[in-house]
Amino acid sequence: MQRIYFNEVVTRDGFQNEPAFVPTDAKVALIDELSACGYAKVEVTSFTSAKAIPMLRDAEEVMGRIRRVPGVETTVLVPNVRGAGRALESRADELNLVMSTSETHNLANLRMPREKSFAGLREVIAMAHAAHSGRVPVNVSLSACFGCPMEGDVPADEVLRWAGRFADLGVRGLTICDTTGMAHPAQVSRLARLLRNRFGSLQLTLHFHNTRGMGLANVLASVQAGIDRFDGSLGGLGGCPYAPGATGNICSEDAIHMLHAMGFETGIDLPRLLAVARRLPEIVGHDVPGQVAKAGLITDLHPAPSYVAELRSQFS
Ligand code: COA
Ligand code: ZN
Repeated sequence: MQRIYFNEVVTRDGFQNEPAFVPTDAKVALIDELSACGYAKVEVTSFTSAKAIPMLRDAEEVMGRIRRVPGVETTVLVPNVRGAGRALESRADELNLVMSTSETHNLANLRMPREKSFAGLREVIAMAHAAHSGRVPVNVSLSACFGCPMEGDVPADEVLRWAGRFADLGVRGLTICDTTGMAHPAQVSRLARLLRNRFGSLQLTLHFHNTRGMGLANVLASVQAGIDRFDGSLGGLGGCPYAPGATGNICSEDAIHMLHAMGFETGIDLPRLLAVARRLPEIVGHDVPGQVAKAGLITDLHPAPSYVAELRSQFS
């Protein structure tokens, strides 16, 4: 059975777009519950400016209080050198650096041109690789790889060029992000194959948003192109506050449910995850887009109406 690895991003990508602050206690409890479900990785928080992302201003406290589960990596988003220092101090298992392949989105989100982001992130990679606690692996999340809501098309060559610059710096993985749900399956299939050919020795993760309903179709296209790592967000929460029109990530439990139904192995205890997902609306104070938590598993059968037995005997 083929293994697919999931990184849960609800408390980072999911929460950063929520209007009402989620208390630190609730974040810690949720991350602990998610870590017990069998994820390969959990993106706990981000070490960004508290002014830019007020929801995640408690990053240190959250990292200090969560239970570390052997086999479940904790990763954190890092936009700059200042964030890297804080992240290393928090003993994150991995640093997930972020920059955009679109100049306009990089300026909107990180307030600097891509070259300046790259120069800072090069320094961050050196810091992580020389950390006093030992080399900390680095993943780089490249935003807007399938299109930018302000610039339009982002050519595949541009994505490959930035991916190549980071690969040359010795990163362990690359996450190719569809920040505002512009990707379609044919495009995903093409880019995934190009990435696998060029960067097959790196951990390649795909990060989709379901903004236009193409999220799970894009997961399927990726799997068919040989991709085995995905970011997902519990309940389908998510979105970048600095990308116009951004809405939720692919819903983790819906994607995992689909892959299990197709015979893939994820290591995730789906009934347990669904129980966590069903508590999410209470945590964020509103309904969430996820569907399987509402509908139940395809294997959850319902009793037939009483007249079915009568009809059966009538027609036999
Ligand atoms: N952690 C905490 N504070 C930080 C920080 C970090 N990593 N980086 C910068 N700051 C603080 C500075 O100390 C400064 O604070 P002050 O105004 O109280 O002096 C303020 O943020 C601005 O610093 P500056 O260096 O001018 O940064 P900036 O305004 O150019 O912002 C980012 C750069 C990247 C820090 C900021 O845009 C950011 O955090 N963006 C969030 C990106 C994000 O997470 N988007 C969603 C996920 S893709
Ligand atoms: Zn995202």
